Formats: sequence, C-alpha cells, structure tokens
Amino acid sequence: MDNNKPTIQITATGKVVVTNAKQVTLLDAEGKTIATRNRFSLCSCGKTLDAPFCDGAHKN
Ligand code: FES
Repeated sequence: MDNNKPTIQITATGKVVVTNAKQVTLLDAEGKTIATRNRFSLCSCGKTLDAPFCDGAHKN
C-alpha cells in the first residue's frame, strides 16, 4: 500500500480515519466549515462528546 496515498479507513473500533489528504474540509449539514485539515478521526459509534470527531469514548 502507498503510505502517502490519501485514505479513509474504518478501524476495528468504528473510528473513521482520514489521512494523507492535502486539505479536506469537513462541512456540517448546512455546508458550513467545521474544520479543514489533512487528517481527521471521525466518530461512528455515537459515544463521542466532541462530535463529529472521535474522542476515544468508543474504548469505554
Ligand atoms: S468512534 Fe471513537 S468515540 Fe466514537
């Protein structure tokens, strides 16, 4: 696998990890920018207190 290739990975714990993107803009439902980064860890378990980001609560 090309380690520099932009990827979106769903981990075994359900976290969605975006890596190696030059600039990804995360938008809310209204199209407003939440954040622009080259790496995101997004929650898909629903336990985070920092939505839409993973805060590690999936481990509990
Ligand atoms: S996936 Fe990590 S807190 Fe939900």
